[in-house]
Amino acid sequence: MTERLVDSFGRVHTDLRISVTDRCNFRCSYCMPAEGMQWIPREEILTFEEIERVATVAVDRFGVDTIRLTGGEPTVRARLPVLIDKLARLEVDLALTTNGASLENMAHDLAAAGLRRINVSLDSLKADRFAELTRRDLLERVLGGIDAALDAGLEPVKLNVVTMRGVNDDELLDFATYGRERGVEVRFIEFMPLDAGEAWDREMVVPAAEVLETISAVHPLEKVDRGNEPAERFRYRDGAGTIGLIGSVTDPFCASCNRIRMTAEGQMRNCLFAVEEVDLRGLLRSGAGDDEIARVMSGCVSAKWAGHRIGEVQFIRPARSMSQIGG
Ligand code: 5AD
Ligand code: SF4
Repeated sequence: MTERLVDSFGRVHTDLRISVTDRCNFRCSYCMPAEGMQWIPREEILTFEEIERVATVAVDRFGVDTIRLTGGEPTVRARLPVLIDKLARLEVDLALTTNGASLENMAHDLAAAGLRRINVSLDSLKADRFAELTRRDLLERVLGGIDAALDAGLEPVKLNVVTMRGVNDDELLDFATYGRERGVEVRFIEFMPLDAGEAWDREMVVPAAEVLETISAVHPLEKVDRGNEPAERFRYRDGAGTIGLIGSVTDPFCASCNRIRMTAEGQMRNCLFAVEEVDLRGLLRSGAGDDEIARVMSGCVSAKWAGHRIGEVQFIRPARSMSQIGG
């Protein structure tokens, strides 16, 4: 490795998020319409070989050390364990973000292929509310999937909870209890303006500080050193595990962001909120060499802005929703 992916603010990028499909078996209301989603045609989606090529350049040339597979829902991509097996050979910290619905069937295969850890997105522990939010009546399946992930030895299993005022802000303690009992780290994420329905409103953001106060009042918490993570971590004083707070809106981690992203059709983004993308697929399919791919990746990162400016007049809502970017 000779170079790093550095931007003009000196941030070194070592965390690559790869969306492997834009498709999903859920229809979360903040992410997708109930019907009529237009999926990217198959031939426009990167093949496993193409994904592996980009990942290898990122790791070998630029010292990327973390790769997270996302979607849409990554487990709906056929033969996902085959891709995991390829990427696991790169010896990176390999993770996956999933809605959990397929884990009862797949957790062991994913772990056997070399997946190390997993994040499950789950915004309600109430069956009727879960069904309303995801438009799928599958809460029990997701809970079974979390257990299957634990059983398969995926470590740690983390739960991503997007907190929304008037939607699930009455479940903070239920989530805390669930996490304490199962030994999973619950991470509360502030709702960001990336929702397909454009329902986002600043009033819907439940500040991370409020989550901390609510849970700590019942189960006292103390801060854990933050490191390079966007999540602020806290441990229960009684030793029953940790929680994470992601203040994406009230306390953006942009200043220490080390993430880059690639969409399922091979478009590289230097920020979740990026307005512009760089076409890696075109390069891959026109026979470009590794040097050229590396040069374009490096250019994409060097053009990165300081931060997302949610709440300021300059903020521009990206044209893609989370399912198309990958989270
Ligand atoms: N704000 C915050 N988090 C979101 N996610 C999806 N949309 C949003 C949003 N608008 C979360 C998902 C999943 C991860 C990929 O991002 O729930 O955990
Ligand atoms: Fe699927 Fe995740 Fe979007 Fe829900 S939020 S529809 S699980 S991609």
